Amino acid sequence: MPEPHSTPLHKTRAPIPRRLLALAALVPLLAGCEGIMSALDPQGPAARDIATVWWVMFWGSVVLFGGTMALVLYALLRAPERRVGIGGGMRLVIAGGVILPIVVILPLLTYGVSLGTVQSSPQVPAALSVEVIGHRFWWEVRYQDPERPDQVVVSANEIHIPAGVPVDFTLRSNDVIHSFWIPNLGGKLDMIPGRANQVRLQADNPGLFRGQCAEYCGPQHARMAFFVRAHPPAEFEAWLAAERGPAREPDDDLLIRGRDAFLERACVDCHAIRGTAAEGRVGPDLTRVGGRLTIGAGTLETSADNLAAWIADNQRLKPGNQMLPFGHLPAEEVEAIAAYLESLE
Ligand code: CUA
Repeated sequence: MPEPHSTPLHKTRAPIPRRLLALAALVPLLAGCEGIMSALDPQGPAARDIATVWWVMFWGSVVLFGGTMALVLYALLRAPERRVGIGGGMRLVIAGGVILPIVVILPLLTYGVSLGTVQSSPQVPAALSVEVIGHRFWWEVRYQDPERPDQVVVSANEIHIPAGVPVDFTLRSNDVIHSFWIPNLGGKLDMIPGRANQVRLQADNPGLFRGQCAEYCGPQHARMAFFVRAHPPAEFEAWLAAERGPAREPDDDLLIRGRDAFLERACVDCHAIRGTAAEGRVGPDLTRVGGRLTIGAGTLETSADNLAAWIADNQRLKPGNQMLPFGHLPAEEVEAIAAYLESLE
C-alpha cells in the first residue's frame, strides 16, 4: 500500500508554500484599501455613504456569484435525474430571470440614486465655499468670502479646508471636461466648461488627502493631481488670513536676483505673485508655491532643484503641459528664479 503523499493526485497539487505565497500576494491589494487616496478608507460623510454603497454592492455580488456558481456546479456534477429538476419548466426562468433581478436591482438603484441626490443638493450653503477650476493640466483654487467678494484668495494644486465642518465646492472648467475626485472625502463630479457643479465635502478630522482628475482630459490627465489638507478650524482661519497677504519679500541677493529675473521674463504673462507686478492668470498662482507639497500638479516634489528642472525642461517632465520650456535662459538665472520661487512659502 503506497503512502498517501506518493499518489499521482498529490504530486499534481501545488505545494503548500506556493499556495501561501499566492495568498500573500493578495495582502498588498488589501493594504491598498487604506491611505490618502482610497474610497474604501472614508474620512467624511459623503465618502462613508459611497463606501457603504460599495460594500453593499460587493457583498451582494458575492452572494449572487456564489449562488450562481452553486447552481452551475449542481448542474455539472449532480446525477442527470436530480439536476433535471432545475433545468426544465418555467419556475427557474421566472424566479431567477424576472423576480430576482427586480428584487435585487430596484432597491439598489433607489438606494444609490437617493444617496447621490442628497450629496449634490445641500439645502443651506456651508460657511466656506471653495471654487475649483480645472485647467489642462492643473487646478485653480479660489477661496470665496461671501461677505467680502473682493477677498477671493487664489491658489493652485492644493486645497486647504477646515476639518469637521462642511465645505461647498463649486466646480468649473476652463477648457475640456475634467473630473474632481478626492476618494477619501467623496465621489467624483465632472467639471464641465460653461457650467458650475456643486458638491459638499467634509473631512471628519485633520489630515492629508490626495485628489486626482478622474476624467480623461488629454496627455497629462494622469499627472493632474492635488493634495487636500484638512486643518483644525482655528488653524484653517489663521492659514486663510496669512494666505490672503502678499508674497514673502526676498531677503538675500540670490532671491532678489531671482525675483527680478522672474518679473523681467515672460513668467509674468502667465503667473501671478501677489504683491508684485506679476498678475498673469493663464498658469498657476505662485504666491505660495514654495509651501506646496508638489509642483506641476503632483508631478514633482517641491524643491529648488525640481523648480529649476521644471522651468528649463518642463516639456520633458510633463509633455503636453501648456507652459513653454525656458531652457534657453542662462543656468544661473534659472537657479535664481527657482530659489526665489522655493522661498515663497
Ligand atoms: Cu483633467 Cu483628466
